[in-house]
Amino acid sequence: MSNIILITGTPGVGKTALAKSLSQNSSFKIVEPNSLVRKEKLYTSYDRARKTYIVDEGKLRRRLEALSRSSERIILPTHLVGRFLPQASVKLALVLRLDPVILYRRLRARGWTKRKAWENTEAEILDVCLQEARLLLGPRKVFEIDTTRKSGPAVYKEAFRALSTGTTGRSGLVNWLDRYDPLELEKTL
Ligand SMILES: Nc1ncnc2c1ncn2[C@@H]1O[C@H](COP(=O)(O)OP(=O)(O)O)[C@@H](O)[C@H]1O
Ligand SMILES: [Mg+2]
Repeated sequence: MSNIILITGTPGVGKTALAKSLSQNSSFKIVEPNSLVRKEKLYTSYDRARKTYIVDEGKLRRRLEALSRSSERIILPTHLVGRFLPQASVKLALVLRLDPVILYRRLRARGWTKRKAWENTEAEILDVCLQEARLLLGPRKVFEIDTTRKSGPAVYKEAFRALSTGTTGRSGLVNWLDRYDPLELEKTL
């Protein structure tokens, strides 16, 4: 059964915010893999330099597999798409995008180090989450949303429309590499 809606995208693009507004208006329950990892200790160690836990992939995968067998409808906001997720259980992946300059500022405002903010900005420029979702789930289950300069409710509306009409198979909306040269951008930020 496909009981999972995935919300993916680089950290800072607004996954948690969208998940909250979607779940407030539906019977979907939010499961944040990041909090599962912390609460249930699904990690192998802590990376002090990056201030993140190193996920125990096997444990997280087994936990998500159990969730995907449940009858609950689940919204999963996460940038950890890859190897952890039982593909058949995902109905649709919403991939949120954000202009890299705005993203960088948001991550710095969160108190992230320059290095960590830049690593993630670079991943956004290079479409990492979008490509992962396309590879894992196939392009037809992927729906990309450019959130740049859109309010929370505007992003919600776009996501809700995709879910309610079952419209999927949309990607290639943005091309940050066309607009920014990563080497130049890193120097100006
Ligand atoms: N559409 C939006 N416009 C402006 N700010 C937003 C928008 N969506 C989220 N934010 C803000 O950006 C920050 C990151 O959002 P969050 O939902 O935590 O992102 P993620 O879960 O992808 O890391 C938060 O401070 C949030 O309030
Ligand atoms: Mg989040």
